[in-house]
Amino acid sequence: MTHSPASDSSRPPASAQPGASGPGSPVRGAAHPTDPEALRQRALAALLAARERTTLLTDSVDDRELAAQHSSLMSPLVWDLAHIGNQEELWLLRMVAGREAMRPEIDGLYDAFQHSRASRPSLPLLPPAEARSYTAEVRNRALDVLDGTALRDDLPLLRSGFAFGMIAQHEQQHDETMLITHQLRSGPAALTALQPPAPTDSGLLPAEVLVDAGPFTMGTTTEPWALDNERPAHVRDVAGFFIDTTPVTCGAYLRFVEDGGYAERRWWNPEGWAMVREHELTAPLFWRREAGQWLRHRFGVTEPVPEHEPVLHVSWYEADAYARWAGRRLPTEAEWEKAARHDPASGRSRRYPWGDGDPSPEHANLGQRHLRPAPAGAYTAGQSPLGVRQLIGDVWEWTASDFLPYPGFSAFPYREYSEVFFGPAHKVLRGGSFAVDPVACRGTFRNWDLPVRRQIFSGFRTARDV
Ligand code: AVJ
Ligand code: FE
Repeated sequence: MTHSPASDSSRPPASAQPGASGPGSPVRGAAHPTDPEALRQRALAALLAARERTTLLTDSVDDRELAAQHSSLMSPLVWDLAHIGNQEELWLLRMVAGREAMRPEIDGLYDAFQHSRASRPSLPLLPPAEARSYTAEVRNRALDVLDGTALRDDLPLLRSGFAFGMIAQHEQQHDETMLITHQLRSGPAALTALQPPAPTDSGLLPAEVLVDAGPFTMGTTTEPWALDNERPAHVRDVAGFFIDTTPVTCGAYLRFVEDGGYAERRWWNPEGWAMVREHELTAPLFWRREAGQWLRHRFGVTEPVPEHEPVLHVSWYEADAYARWAGRRLPTEAEWEKAARHDPASGRSRRYPWGDGDPSPEHANLGQRHLRPAPAGAYTAGQSPLGVRQLIGDVWEWTASDFLPYPGFSAFPYREYSEVFFGPAHKVLRGGSFAVDPVACRGTFRNWDLPVRRQIFSGFRTARDV
């Protein structure tokens, strides 16, 4: 792999330019606006949409459940709620508007670095009613700040409304975290959603797609609300590879399970094998076998494992072992992004597989609109130029890569967002799940987690060398 610095507009040609659209790409909602009033409206809409989601996730259980810890892996929902407000206060009221702290005594409680998730229930957290009123009061003031602040180009926090976009993304990321908590809670279903669309032509799809060798532009310099770890745009040379047309399905994964995959050391890397043995793993999280049938638990409902749906709730170790069993491997992060963004006809990188227009419901399964992945092969309109499907939405996709800075990385606006997590301990996930809002999902967006994690909405696809 070679790295060379490049702006989004050097060779390969212009990528992710707001307003630019590739040949044949549907321009819908177009790309990110540049006009200040349109930016303000976009920031407002993103903040309101996030709050609508937060309200749904926190009003759908009673106050006792809101304050309870449903899993030692997760915070009580009421912690996420006040943390959302506290981060908004910190960035929009104190940093952007220079206001005094509203309640300095609570800052430490909601600093994710001071207390582990497991220890959060024993903290003197704001009770539900206070968490709600604090977070709502911060929001009232933040909307005044948005109204009364010029989105100045010379201040990085304000340029293109970045701080507002960052805070909307932060809230939506915690909305995904809260949805994970919902999945881990027991008791009857608290949330419902419509079924995702079925594929129309999946019987005709090739199993894999060839991506030819050559350079492409990875990352972005121009995407206004891209976070620090997505920056800057730079050229990567990638050898030719094949990548699965769709994510690996439950049916395919079941063949690995039934072939004794969890009992054979040779498919696993050493730490993965240790995890399988220690926790006596036999299948993805939330699966169980009963009376000769595989069932899974999903948001309060037990149902047969759906054969055609992308597999969910697997750790990186399980994805890696499956790929080895299948005679394949996980794609690298650069391979994933090239498959998702590179347009061979123009040589440029797009914002999304389908072009530069923002996601709409016919492109991808995003935004908790459906509380499960769509069957493999769905979303024809969202496919990449080479015909790779469901890169965006449905399931987060584990990649082979460690979470590392791009050449030219600089931490912004705080080291604790990305920089402190760089290194071999975290693996990169790409593409977003059904739980991710479009505001926090792009062809360049990078998520990361520990390779043992399986309560997250994680799946994968496989690749192989040419
Ligand atoms: C990017 C999803 C790994 O949830 O730990 C939320 C996002 N950062 N608050 C996380 C985040 C600070 C982060 N992930
Ligand atoms: Fe946070």
